[in-house]
Amino acid sequence: MRSALFLILALPAAASDALPTANAVFPELEMESVELGQLLFYDPILSGNRNISCGTCHHPTLGTADGVSLGIGEGGGGLGIERKADHDNHPEERIPRNAPALWNLGASEFTVMFHDGRVEADESQPYGVRTPLGEEMVDGFKSVLAAQAMFPVLSADEMAGQYSENDVAKAVRMGQNSQEGGAWDILATRVAQIPEYRARFDNVIGPETPIKYVDIANALADFIAFEWRSDESDFDRHLRGEAPLEGEALAGMELFYGEANCSTCHSGQFQTDHDFHAIAMPQLGPGKRAAFEDHARDTGRMGVTGRLEDAYAFRTPSLRNLSVTAPYGHAGSYSSLRDVVEHHYYPVAALENYAQELALLPKFDGADDWRIHLDSREVAEIAAASKLMPSNALTDADTDAILAFLASLEDTRDGKGRLGIPDSVPSGLPLD
Ligand code: HEC
Ligand code: HEC
Repeated sequence: MRSALFLILALPAAASDALPTANAVFPELEMESVELGQLLFYDPILSGNRNISCGTCHHPTLGTADGVSLGIGEGGGGLGIERKADHDNHPEERIPRNAPALWNLGASEFTVMFHDGRVEADESQPYGVRTPLGEEMVDGFKSVLAAQAMFPVLSADEMAGQYSENDVAKAVRMGQNSQEGGAWDILATRVAQIPEYRARFDNVIGPETPIKYVDIANALADFIAFEWRSDESDFDRHLRGEAPLEGEALAGMELFYGEANCSTCHSGQFQTDHDFHAIAMPQLGPGKRAAFEDHARDTGRMGVTGRLEDAYAFRTPSLRNLSVTAPYGHAGSYSSLRDVVEHHYYPVAALENYAQELALLPKFDGADDWRIHLDSREVAEIAAASKLMPSNALTDADTDAILAFLASLEDTRDGKGRLGIPDSVPSGLPLD
């Protein structure tokens, strides 16, 4: 009798037991560093040819991303779907992965960066972070986010440019990244030569201290952490007990944390377990391959760990402010939020029936975007790797409720950022 009574009392509580707690920890930040980071984030000076900034691909008017499935990096002009490859400096290919949004990355739980986690906290590695540079990584970064901010500038297609074009690209091509006089040093010297930057760094690292690239990365990380903290959504208020969710959003929350099983992967306050799962997401674009390979595959986590069981696994994305961050998935294969949610119900069938119109690609001469999708063997490999079980119980009305819940995760009050885009940057270069 006693145990039956216990069961009855316990049942209604079950859904809320599965709910995360609002326990995000954000660092204390020095505003001088944040404001310095703001200028650096939007300043094309950090790119080899001084023509693209972090903000070009992580733009506040495009949900801190770039609004397209796969963007165009160095060698383009314009923003988002309007961005065009430059005829005289045509990039070799599209950026191979979708640019992720930058919400809440300052929270201490975010220690795995990129869709494949190739920069991540790892105590066994030099300075506690595993990066593609391995032993060549340098010390002095304040967080995994700061370690991440050291890498876009080393990518030829993202920011560095091609070998013959500038000194940064040349250093990168020769493998001179962290060495004295390498790409990071060249960029740090450029910044140090601008009096306004030097004066601002005086206040952050001290007047006698030479500026290193890692100081730039720390300021960029402080800016991102401050600017795009986004934990004042209706759902956060629900978790804090301030204002309960109601109606369809509440029904969607119960599905998300209950029958629809979303929270097995999308867990925690920000709806991510920071882990990797293969869910048969369609692929497009040039893929990720080593220089000597010729394929358009992106095996995701396996490319980092080398383990077969990680094939086609990608990091569970946080689900904040989704209304402004389309397209979705590691290659941006879905432009519609409803479509990417429904993909999870029948992952393999959705992969097999995927239609190219669901992506959103800026024009790019010579692009061969559908090599994987049009190759049935490649598609079968992605399907075979999927570990997400189909669920046939969910209806259209359930999807409506789940979408209402996802909308309750929006905190776009500061969507454009707290400091916003500066009017100008110390290099005097034009802004995107
Ligand atoms: C050409 C476009 C482009 C530029 C320029 C660019 N990024 Fe990115 N960024 C991306 C893409 C694409 C990814 C995902 C790459 C991957 O997962 O392999 C990414 C990933 C990130 C991430 C990881 C986010 C996460 O959730 O894992 C951070 C942080 C970031 N970029 C910050 C920056 C900073 C800081 C700069 C400037 C120094 C910058 N980006 C410049 C396109 C760009
Ligand atoms: C097995 C783990 C898992 C489960 C369960 C799961 N997801 Fe996902 N979800 C992922 C992964 C991993 C990705 C990214 C995959 C990729 O890019 O290849 C993703 C992507 C998404 C995206 C796209 C977000 C973006 O920014 O690109 C949305 C939206 C989403 N999931 C919602 C849901 C909903 C709603 C449910 C429940 C119906 C759910 N997920 C269940 C792992 C999961």
